[in-house]
Amino acid sequence: MANDIGRQLSQPSPILVADPAADVYRYHEDILTAVDRVLRSGRYILGKEVEAFECEWARYLGARYCVGVASGTDALALALKAVGVHAGDEVVTVSHTAVATVAAIEAIGARPVFVDIAPSSRCMDPSLLDAAISSCTRAIVPVHVYGQPADMESILAVARQHDLQVVEDCAQAHGAEIAGRKVGTFGIAAAFSFYPTKNLGAVGDAGAVVCNDGVVAAQVRSLRQYGWRERYVSDVVGTNSRLDELQAAILRVKLKDLDRRNQMRRTIAARYRKALASTGVVSPSDIPGTTHAMHLFVVESLARDGFAEFLLEAGVTTALHYPMPIHLQPAYVNRITGADRLPVTERLYKRLLTIPCHSDLTAEQVERICGRLRAWPEPLPSSKQPSRLSVQGIS
Ligand SMILES: Cc1ncc(COP(=O)(O)O)c(C=O)c1O
Repeated sequence: MANDIGRQLSQPSPILVADPAADVYRYHEDILTAVDRVLRSGRYILGKEVEAFECEWARYLGARYCVGVASGTDALALALKAVGVHAGDEVVTVSHTAVATVAAIEAIGARPVFVDIAPSSRCMDPSLLDAAISSCTRAIVPVHVYGQPADMESILAVARQHDLQVVEDCAQAHGAEIAGRKVGTFGIAAAFSFYPTKNLGAVGDAGAVVCNDGVVAAQVRSLRQYGWRERYVSDVVGTNSRLDELQAAILRVKLKDLDRRNQMRRTIAARYRKALASTGVVSPSDIPGTTHAMHLFVVESLARDGFAEFLLEAGVTTALHYPMPIHLQPAYVNRITGADRLPVTERLYKRLLTIPCHSDLTAEQVERICGRLRAWPEPLPSSKQPSRLSVQGIS
């Protein structure tokens, strides 16, 4: 017993996949100052802080407008509604995403339709869009999953051909870029989440819609507050989905450091890639012309569960993003169009494992993870390219 306790005390503390508390303590003083400013202001809803954050976030992205809302899920639902998606319309998206993407589509009464992902990016495969589009399709929602930008050029080309709106799900991609341009500025609108573990995280729920179209921005502004045209007069049926002053003030503190923190994530990811190079584990693809936000570092292993165990033995926590694609989850199974043609999604999800890769990791923790990655004995597959692995269907 005494020995057990001694061993536990000598074990280094577990390394977490995300550490929002450490993130808050990094900016503790500045956050307290910001919170105090809000408390003293007496204005807690839609005041100066929200207005300032909206300007700063739009400027950071290179977009004209930002409208703060209560969550990323609401941001997506309100953006879709604002660009003219109605109940009964079809919205093409992916099953390999957070359930929120699909929940937002269904929240406005629209119908999700799934297309498969490209094995290298793990994002929407644009070559499959044509087959998924019907006369009921109104919009496409690509997800920049894990922080990897989707192939927006090809997606926008298909959308133009079919006269469809594109609303980007940027919940995992704060600061990600394609050819130097931030994601969130490619579609007619984009949805961001500031859930505490995101690259830019609040200390509660928060989200934003970003766009370059003044009419869409005005529509979201109205929808987030009961559809008001002016106070107490609703033009359309809206909801209550406001970003609050406290969250906006805290986001403003953290936004100042976002680029540096994203770069730290990418530096850690580069070390993991190197450590994994001679193992059987496949790192995320490095796709030319794109800058990954590295929200999550997600590897592929044919022995995924054993690999997770192996890491845990050294105190390295891992996670599954996601344990099950949406079309297989009980709430959605057998009822979403396109669910029967997702071979890449179905093959990949069983192999994917998220390894801690955030900017609160210490140098010692990164070293510890790299050492453990290098030591994994899984044999090298015939190719380390995720695309070849998947196309050849090794399982
Ligand atoms: C891809 C994706 N879309 C949407 C959301 C929804 O964001 P929120 O949790 O802020 O509602 C999330 C958050 O987990 C996400 O990862």
